[in-house]
Amino acid sequence: MSGVFQRALQGDPLAVPPVWLMRQAGRYHAPYQRLRAQHGFEALCRTPELAAEVAMAPVLDFDFDAAILFSDLLFPLEALGFGLSYDTGPPQLDGPLTVDRLARFRPLDEAVPRLAFQRDALAATRERLSADKGLVGFVGGPWTLFVYAVEGTHLGTLERAKASLDLYRAFADRIVPLLVATIRLQLEGGADVVMIFDTAAGELAPEPFQRELVSDLCALARAFPRRLGYYAKGLRPAHIWGNAFTTAPWAGLSLDSEWNLAAALTVERMPGFVQGNFDPTLLLLTGAPLARAIQHYLDPLCRLDAEARRGWVCGLGHGVLPRTPESSVRTFVQTVRETFA
Ligand code: CP3
Repeated sequence: MSGVFQRALQGDPLAVPPVWLMRQAGRYHAPYQRLRAQHGFEALCRTPELAAEVAMAPVLDFDFDAAILFSDLLFPLEALGFGLSYDTGPPQLDGPLTVDRLARFRPLDEAVPRLAFQRDALAATRERLSADKGLVGFVGGPWTLFVYAVEGTHLGTLERAKASLDLYRAFADRIVPLLVATIRLQLEGGADVVMIFDTAAGELAPEPFQRELVSDLCALARAFPRRLGYYAKGLRPAHIWGNAFTTAPWAGLSLDSEWNLAAALTVERMPGFVQGNFDPTLLLLTGAPLARAIQHYLDPLCRLDAEARRGWVCGLGHGVLPRTPESSVRTFVQTVRETFA
């Protein structure tokens, strides 16, 4: 059975949009905290039955229209040779990317099998998911992974990464084929669509974004026509308009909260689905202030008919924040459904 998420991907006009949220499985959610109290984060990701249980918990609890792979975007760096630890809070790599280190990366045929657990996690999730729900895979974007490899974080001014564009080119030549192989594994595992989360790419101004990243991003899109979505925090029309990015065969784009979503659906005519973009900080609210914020977000979309809303996948402008009340997530999903029913 084709559910509302799959129909939105096909571009069917829909009265009620599908809803899923980045980081819908995570620390704000009591079932995640219970499992996390018993298992380390990596064990949750690497054990397919546990990853499936984590991914299913928010779908069962809040009736999201899609489950998302429970994993992390840094595992391809581990597959290439970095030490990676989640034991002490934020992820830690065992040192920065250098020319020497890049020369010692594992070859592709040794790196790919180290990511097979993501295929198995998706297959275990698909087994538990009812046929009318979608399944989303994800990888990090090449630039975001580069930023982590060089800086050890995606936060801050990132000048070391921005000063190392020669190293980026050499890194991209190794990471892009690995991402292609990983995406193939995730599609084999049953993902309907694979998101490229390129959180740090919007930190580049439009000119370097186009000069350095667009060819790699288009290569990914062309390897899997209509199966990949793209998200970069801070992405603006100036990054993607008038260059090869918009003509690549994307399944769609996910937009942050700074975009006018109704205009993106109608005036700007994004390629494929358009996901977004309620401000995740507003999900920290409850009661009347939350209800008002959701109504303000939905009002311009209510003024469009189902035809004009074609391709809209309702979501956040970024991920669910750890302090978000579960009741706010429930209210968000219910309000979206009731508003368009
Ligand atoms: O959306 C989902 O429900 C799937 C889960 C998911 C995780 N990470 C689980 C996770 C997704 C989609 C990601 C992507 C990810 N990972 C991104 C891109 C999205 C974004 O937020 O910008 C980034 C930058 C990372 C790297 C990463 N992993 C960071 C910065 C951290 C620590 C900070 C944080 O938010 O927790 C992680 C660890 C991580 N990834 C956790 C989870 C649930 C927390 C681990 C724990 O329980 O201790």
